Amino acid sequence: MLAFFGGDLLASRWTTGALAATHLLVVGFMLQAMCGALLQFVPVAAGGNIWRPRLVVNLVHPLLVIAAILLVAAFLSQRAPLFVAAAHSFALALGFFGVLVSLALWRTPAQGATIVALRIALIGLLVTVFLGVVLATGIARGADWPLLALTDVHAAWGLGGWALMLLAGVSYYVVPMFQLTPAYPLWLARGVPLMLMGVLLVWSLRLADFGPSERMALLLAGLAVAAVFAVETLHLQSRRRRKVSDVTMLFFRTAMLSLLLLLLSVVCFFMLPELWNDPRAAVWLGMLALVGVFVSAIGGMLYKIVPFLNWLHLQRICGLNTLPPAMNQMISERAMRRQYYWHLVALALLLSAVWLPLLARPAGLAFAVDCGWLGVNLVRAVRGYVRFRNRIRAAA
Ligand code: HEM
Repeated sequence: MLAFFGGDLLASRWTTGALAATHLLVVGFMLQAMCGALLQFVPVAAGGNIWRPRLVVNLVHPLLVIAAILLVAAFLSQRAPLFVAAAHSFALALGFFGVLVSLALWRTPAQGATIVALRIALIGLLVTVFLGVVLATGIARGADWPLLALTDVHAAWGLGGWALMLLAGVSYYVVPMFQLTPAYPLWLARGVPLMLMGVLLVWSLRLADFGPSERMALLLAGLAVAAVFAVETLHLQSRRRRKVSDVTMLFFRTAMLSLLLLLLSVVCFFMLPELWNDPRAAVWLGMLALVGVFVSAIGGMLYKIVPFLNWLHLQRICGLNTLPPAMNQMISERAMRRQYYWHLVALALLLSAVWLPLLARPAGLAFAVDCGWLGVNLVRAVRGYVRFRNRIRAAA
């Protein structure tokens, strides 16, 4: 879309193109990967049983795809029926998903920081979707509602209460496991989700009364909490037992550094109010958060989780006679690394394009290649899995 629309898309956070592109990332990509992560994580890390997971996936996954396409089409065309259809589809898919995952998460006897973070993340998802549905309905009806304030609350819960919360909860579990680091200190693992939720509650309850300086103070507070998580993750990674930098860790580092850069940017905006008043300041923050933090972290996680799941399933099929291929043979290290370096190029171009509209189209193309490349690498891993599975079945 950015390659197609060019610099106009990035002129402010309110252009129809920016809203559509934002939701292509947040509901088209992030939501899919994150709902998948919850389905994987709730049984494994939290010991919670989700009712008929295969049926849930077969209903929720296609419905989310349809809902995302409807919402993006609604933003681009500004047609009321599309907003309404998107709102209904999201409400149905995520209402169903939310109830089942909540039942599993609240019934489990397991305890710990990951579970607290997962529970808050689920609340964050439901608040985000509820407000998203309200916004879409309000726009469709041309209602006289405080859409601006509602959008800010929706965006904060979506990025902070859902996406970052889930990232933190999952990291507490997978960073020590996959990157062989020491565990997160308990005070931090418990404190970060609770503090983040505190900031979000104040932001939500009082937003209508806030002046610009109070909003800025809360934004800084939320990002400071996020920065504690980022600094600790980088610190733990520097203390890992095997000093090899695999691609997942490089992606993760990029995500954590982007999180720190977000805080630094808001501090700069605080000191230079004329820059904060430029509509592109918010676009810069959005780009850093979406592509710098979340696309990087999720891409890195996928490179670990897809081979891990392949291996797990193959191991079950193989039985005692055959060994499945090792995880690091499922996607070549070289292919992942190349895509990672390209991701850095795309991110740098996207961030520059916020201030230099001339770069918007090359940045859009570079990001499209980046995402396509990630997709190709993952599809290769899945095809390798299918080939191996078919071989075993044929031999049996
Ligand atoms: C679940 C993850 C979601 C996240 C992380 C998210 C994030 C965001 C963000 C960051 C914005 C502000 C965009 C900007 O400032 O350019 C926004 C606006 C908006 N979102 Fe979402 N969103 C999510 C889901 C949804 C859903 C499910 C719907 C609708 C059913 C929705 C409808 C809207 C609408 C209508 C706006 C713009 C409101 C306006 O123009 O005033 N969002 N969202």
